[in-house]
Amino acid sequence: MEVLIEETAHNVAKRVADFVERLIVTSPAPVLGLATGATPVLAYQELIRRYRAGTLSFERTRVFLLDEYVGLAAGHPGSYGSTIRRELIDHIDMATDALMVPASDAASLRASSHCYDAEIRDAGGIDLQLLGIGSQGHIGFNEPGSSLSSRTRIKTLAASTRRDNGRFFGGADEVPRHAVTQGIGTILDARQLLLIAIGSTKAKAVAAAVEGPITSMVPASALQLHPHATVVLDHSAAADLQLAEYYAVVQRHKPQWLRPEQAAE
Ligand code: F6R
Repeated sequence: MEVLIEETAHNVAKRVADFVERLIVTSPAPVLGLATGATPVLAYQELIRRYRAGTLSFERTRVFLLDEYVGLAAGHPGSYGSTIRRELIDHIDMATDALMVPASDAASLRASSHCYDAEIRDAGGIDLQLLGIGSQGHIGFNEPGSSLSSRTRIKTLAASTRRDNGRFFGGADEVPRHAVTQGIGTILDARQLLLIAIGSTKAKAVAAAVEGPITSMVPASALQLHPHATVVLDHSAAADLQLAEYYAVVQRHKPQWLRPEQAAE
């Protein structure tokens, strides 16, 4: 696992945008997995800025959203489908039908969860999956206790998640009880994982995920099993890492041929 610690949240956003840009310019048919929530917003703004500057086009890009709430009316502003459109897709040149969102209507739920993994496979798999992390270590809506080999399915949200996400809904009680989420096994199938965390409220979860044991009690610790996982943090989110100094040394002395700008050539 590679750990990158940046001075500011803006630097984190630029780093993340660099990863996305590198994929898009090097792949003929890039497939992105995107998360919502507060963490990736600055990175999405940076991607929009690059698109507007004419240096980046999303025309060939397909996106699979990580998760979606169950039970919200179509177009509800709190739904993750609406959120990703509002925060990114509506501002770039991606084809509107190139966004895939896990189906979360009650009628088709069982079949659609299974189909979502098949749709990802049919698209050739996800090249780069962006992830945030919950304050208790969840990725997607894989709450503590989730199977590390789980596939896309419905999950019941933990009370802490509903509390944390109450800010997007006008209170925890308004947050849906259920969501459809890519499973941890689904996430681990992506060719590259990029977990982003900003702020001190994530420090404990980040340390447990990166340096603690691999356990379903900290779903993000499953990233340790992935051959190409990168964690991009600001200083506050990195505050509890024991090996922070070592990660900085790794970056300072990274051989030239391993640097991303070289790899992209
Ligand atoms: C969002 C998602 C969640 C969030 C996590 C952090 O699609 O799957 O796992 O990434 O809850 O949320 P924020 O970024 O709002 O702190």
